[in-house]
Amino acid sequence: MNPRQVLSPYISKHMTDHPSSHIISAIRKRRSVYPPEFIKGHISDQLISDLLALAQYAPTHRLTEPWRFAVISPAARPSFSDFVDGYYESLRDTSEYVGRKHHKALKKIEQSSHIVAIILRRDPAQRVPEWEEIAAVSMAVQNIWLAAKQFGIGLYWSTPDSRMVAGDYLGLQETETCLGYLYMGLSPKCQFADRDRLKPEDYIKWL
Ligand SMILES: Cc1cc2nc3c(=O)[nH]c(=O)nc-3n(C[C@H](O)[C@H](O)[C@H](O)COP(=O)(O)O)c2cc1C
Repeated sequence: MNPRQVLSPYISKHMTDHPSSHIISAIRKRRSVYPPEFIKGHISDQLISDLLALAQYAPTHRLTEPWRFAVISPAARPSFSDFVDGYYESLRDTSEYVGRKHHKALKKIEQSSHIVAIILRRDPAQRVPEWEEIAAVSMAVQNIWLAAKQFGIGLYWSTPDSRMVAGDYLGLQETETCLGYLYMGLSPKCQFADRDRLKPEDYIKWL
């Protein structure tokens, strides 16, 4: 067997037994947790701030630090709900309107504690391609996601079409784009069975 190959069942023992195995465990246990699974109650604003502060440790080409976040706190939920409702109402007489989606979009706002808009701010000089900045923002989100689980916070990344017209609501600048939202809520005991995922041999090739 190729010594570099990962042992079954995908992660080798020297990694899971290593003193830093909590990092491995956090990565393996991260999951999307959806608003219907959140329990009632609010996350503290301080914890949200602390989690978002972890974004700054993500790698970023030419240090453009392209991540920005707009926090919709419980106090701001009604205005966000109005924005989302307005978006769906604007579609009502078109073939794009789906009543079930409209209802679900409003319901999940109610079920969440905080909703964080994920914003890409392009480097004004565009010194790196956009995809690199999207990659950096995604790595920042992963930092937040991995840490959130340790504090009993569940979240998922939602990318509704309405994000494309959220500029005014979120107060975005011209160089900023909303890449979606983190719907966040309390989920202290959320455990998930492992999903069927690609096996390393399906996505790694050794040359
Ligand atoms: C960039 C991105 C966008 C996503 N957008 C949505 C979305 O709009 N709706 C949704 O239900 N899940 C969305 N997800 C969550 C994925 O569906 C989820 O990560 C996937 O099912 C794997 O599950 P896991 O996160 O528990 O591993 C998104 C995830 C990413 C990374």
